[in-house]
Amino acid sequence: MTQPFGPIEAPPSLDLLGPQGPEIARLFTRPFLVMHRASALYTARTCLLLLFDLGWEARLRSGTTLDDLCRGLPEQARKPLAWMLPFLVTEDLLSREGESFILKGGPDLDLAGIREAVEIEAPGHGVNFDLLDGVRSHIQPFFTEGKAGEGLLFDLALFPLWLTYFRNENLGYFPNNLLTLLALRQDLTPGTRVLELGAGAGSFAQLVARQGAEEGWISRIAEYRFTDVAPTFLRRAQRDLKFIAPGLPLTFQALDLNRPLGDQGIAAESLDVLIGINVVHVAQNLEAVLLDLRSRLRLGGRLILGECLKSSLEHPVYQEFFFSFIRSFTDVELDPRWRPVHGFLTPEAWVDALAHAGFRNIESIPPPRPLMDKHPSFNVGAITAWA
Ligand SMILES: C[S@@+](CC[C@H](N)C(=O)[O-])C[C@H]1O[C@@H](n2cnc3c(N)ncnc32)[C@H](O)[C@@H]1O
Repeated sequence: MTQPFGPIEAPPSLDLLGPQGPEIARLFTRPFLVMHRASALYTARTCLLLLFDLGWEARLRSGTTLDDLCRGLPEQARKPLAWMLPFLVTEDLLSREGESFILKGGPDLDLAGIREAVEIEAPGHGVNFDLLDGVRSHIQPFFTEGKAGEGLLFDLALFPLWLTYFRNENLGYFPNNLLTLLALRQDLTPGTRVLELGAGAGSFAQLVARQGAEEGWISRIAEYRFTDVAPTFLRRAQRDLKFIAPGLPLTFQALDLNRPLGDQGIAAESLDVLIGINVVHVAQNLEAVLLDLRSRLRLGGRLILGECLKSSLEHPVYQEFFFSFIRSFTDVELDPRWRPVHGFLTPEAWVDALAHAGFRNIESIPPPRPLMDKHPSFNVGAITAWA
């Protein structure tokens, strides 16, 4: 069959995946690898089409620098454009000559062909592309009128797509949850008090309930505090989780990790495990947030971060496209020592930040190197750090 996204990466060999390798290896099915590649390509084509929508094709054809493109635009346009232009180079849709980005020839920007091929190989995953289409159709006022990305991308039209995206059935999202679950299950002792930050649509809690019951360890969790900053997620979880995550001793609470947790009712040293899946990177001041999180854990408690990881800080990954418009992702305090860039980090940058905040025995599932050197597109991991 012809497929429009070029060669699909081979799965990593078992020896690269560490002690939990056999369970992790099951992620690398043909549909997963197809989805992963197709998502990168669909994102790149969407990016370039967005630049065309904005009327910039001629400028790209004659070659433009980031500074030129940003001239006359709201200041907020710079960060997403600074991400998009190099990303388009890595996906061979633009060329780079010095500081100039140039569009050459007639690039293949077919989206329907990608969708059709994915529908055959990974049926039911169109939502990942719907979200990208949603960004393209909603985001123009971010550039033209300086409107905030949050309002444009989390509106009522796109919210249901997010709920469909954050599901264990979504091969593009499931690895975050599975790797975090493997980390949680390890060293899980009876009476464990868990708090999940940014628990959102509840897909992780659901996985814990299901797999914990099947494997007989759910009873070791004495308390599972489900928290999120967004009332919409929280209300929905409160309504549905007792049915879809049975057996988990749930409580619900609004919690903003950017405000001191003590002021929000979380006592010092009151937790055994703190979990955050793709959320702690929105810490405005990562140093302060990690110190705060550590202080909420008893000595010997664990912080487990399920994070999208980058093989190098300069290497753009397609998952960043959407978030490059969101201020909580881009506008964080930087420090070259423990917060070198905004957004997703390398495994090494996380280790530096966590060690700086006093965490010990920081380890990742799977071990990130040499895995990410050999498979730079494998960009997720669960990092455990002991208080
Ligand atoms: C990538 S989603 C994680 C989704 C969740 N793990 C799931 O499976 O549905 C990130 C979540 O973090 C929440 N969030 C964003 N900023 C936050 C903050 N400052 N404090 C706490 N949660 C936050 C969002 O509302 C969202 O639900």
